[in-house]
Amino acid sequence: MLPAGRHMGGAVHNGRMKPPKRLKSLIEEGLIDTVVRQLTSGKEAMVYVVRCGDETRCAKVYKEATQRSFRQAVDYSENRKVKNTRQARAMAKGTRFGKQAQEAAWQSAEVDALYRLAAAGVRVPRPHNFCDGVLLMELVTDADGAAAPRLNDVSLAPGQAREHHATLLIEVMRMLCAGVVHGDLSEFNILLGAAGPVIIDLPQAVDAAGNNHAARMLLRDVDNLRAFFGRFAPDLLDTEYGLEIWDLYQRGALRPDAALTGRFERQAGPVDVDGVMVEIDDARAENAARRLRLQPVQ
Ligand SMILES: Nc1ncnc2c1ncn2[C@@H]1O[C@H](COP(=O)(O)OP(=O)(O)O)[C@@H](O)[C@H]1O
Ligand SMILES: [Mg+2]
Repeated sequence: MLPAGRHMGGAVHNGRMKPPKRLKSLIEEGLIDTVVRQLTSGKEAMVYVVRCGDETRCAKVYKEATQRSFRQAVDYSENRKVKNTRQARAMAKGTRFGKQAQEAAWQSAEVDALYRLAAAGVRVPRPHNFCDGVLLMELVTDADGAAAPRLNDVSLAPGQAREHHATLLIEVMRMLCAGVVHGDLSEFNILLGAAGPVIIDLPQAVDAAGNNHAARMLLRDVDNLRAFFGRFAPDLLDTEYGLEIWDLYQRGALRPDAALTGRFERQAGPVDVDGVMVEIDDARAENAARRLRLQPVQ
């Protein structure tokens, strides 16, 4: 059964619905011809299936910051690069201009990440346009051309689970090699497209090198994959790919095709990875991650 809130219909007539207000300017600009239906209304955005010429695409309409939930936590926005110093000061002060700037930075972070990751060969939806707080992108579809299900909505045989897990670890390594940590990777933000898993939902993606929380976020992303696929293939539950990947990254030895073992040998060294693991999701984790980042690489 599909979870509540998904595949919302609304009044759909002849394969189109009355366009929502937020999409009107895109229709006027000729970026969208018709709105077919609302796909979901999530925590941060509403997603619509739209027609553009003879293509079906997907329009992600970001909710206003005030309607959003938890994700605008400090670790996501920390060190996000803001070039204009007036903007940076306003963001720090929380003025109205600052809030607008922060909002724009949040939304365009997803667009930036999509372009950066697509260029790095990561399977993400192809972005088409970003206009008035709406991201127009490729609609990820299943073998029948319908909107692809989230991993959370499918059940997998053990072999499929291992295969998708391995594919996604390569994607995580490609992302990290491109300097990006997803930051909210889970079965809810991966679609099972006709050609395999596709990673979505990137507004909180962070710069791996410039963010004090990158290590913690990478480990959490990889742990989420382990927990999900481990439900179908319990042998995965013993693996430690996150620590292994982060260690390779820190030593400058990470390649997208690195042969991983799933094991990680803890040894006394410059990086107290054990400490990071124990303190994960703990109040002290932020400090630990900061210390981890500040360790000289030897
Ligand atoms: N490119 C896409 N193709 C198909 N479905 C999509 C696409 N982008 C988002 N969706 C659907 O919309 C839902 C919400 O999108 P997402 O980017 O995860 O936003 P949020 O979780 O912040 O609301 C996804 O779970 C997925 O079902
Ligand atoms: Mg999501």
